[in-house]
Amino acid sequence: MDKIVVNKLDLFYGDQQALNNIGIAMKERSVTALIGPSGCGKSTFLRTLNRMQDLIPSVKITGQVKIDGQDIYATGTDVVLLRKKVGMVFQNPNPFPKSVFENVAYGPRIHGETDKKKLSEIVETSLKDAALWNEVKDRLHESALGLSGGQQQRLCIARLLAVGPEILLMDEPTSALDPISTMKIEELISELKDKYTIIIVTHNMHQASRVSDRTAFFLSGDLIEEDVTSVLFTRPAKKKTEDYISGRFG
Ligand SMILES: Nc1ncnc2c1ncn2[C@@H]1O[C@H](COP(=O)(O)OP(=O)(O)OP(=O)(O)O)[C@@H](O)[C@H]1O
Ligand SMILES: [Mg+2]
Repeated sequence: MDKIVVNKLDLFYGDQQALNNIGIAMKERSVTALIGPSGCGKSTFLRTLNRMQDLIPSVKITGQVKIDGQDIYATGTDVVLLRKKVGMVFQNPNPFPKSVFENVAYGPRIHGETDKKKLSEIVETSLKDAALWNEVKDRLHESALGLSGGQQQRLCIARLLAVGPEILLMDEPTSALDPISTMKIEELISELKDKYTIIIVTHNMHQASRVSDRTAFFLSGDLIEEDVTSVLFTRPAKKKTEDYISGRFG
C-alpha cells in the first residue's frame, strides 16, 4: 500500500524554485533512497514530507503530499502530530547533552508520559530496536555525549522510535560515520524496514544499492527517474540518470 503519495509538488525559496512538479509514491514498509548531486533538492524534498520546510519564512509550497491518504498541507493539519508520525534523523548525530536514558525518554515525556515504569520500558524497547541496547544498558545514566559517533546516531534513531513514528526520514545519516558504524546503521535500516517506511538521502550509491528497495534520482530540482533500485542502477531509462550513476558528473 502507498504510505506517501506526492503530486505536483513545487517548492520555492523566495523567487528561487528548488523543486519542480515532483510526483512520487512510496510504499509502506519500504526503503526509498534519494540520490543526486549537491544542491539538487534532496534535503528540501525530504523536509517537505514532515513540513520541516515550513519553518523557513521564505518557503512557498504548492501541490500535494498525502500520507495515509491525508494531505499534510491541508489547513487544520496538526503539525506536531505529523512530526511525531514522520520523524527525522540528521547528518550529524545531535543527542541532547543529557543521559542516554533522558535522550530517549524526552519525547514520550513531552507527549505526556509520566509513568516511570512505562518510560523505562519505552527506553529499553527503543534502544533494542535501534540496535544499541547491549552497548549502553550499563551506562544509561551517563552522558550521551560520551558515546561514539555511530552510537550517538543510533541513539538519535532510538529517540525517534520512542515517540512511535511510522515514517523515518534520514538525511545522509552515515556521512559523518566510520565504515563500521555505517555498516551498523545500514543493517539497522534493513531491520527497521519491517515496521517503518524509510526515506534516506545518500551520496553513496553503494549504500543506496545496499539498503533501498527503490531509488529516486534528482537533478536541479527535478525528479528525473524513480525505479526499483537494481533497475535504476543497471538499466536506467534516462540518459541523465545513466550519466550520473556512471560518474560522468556530480
Ligand atoms: N534555506 C534555504 N534558503 C534558500 N535556498 C535554499 C535553502 N535551502 C536550500 N536552498 C537551495 O535549494 C536548492 C536545493 O538544496 P538542498 O539542500 O535541498 O540540496 P541537496 O540535494 O540536499 O544538496 P546536498 O547534497 O549538498 O545536501 C539549492 O540550490 C540550495 O541552495
Ligand atoms: Mg542535503
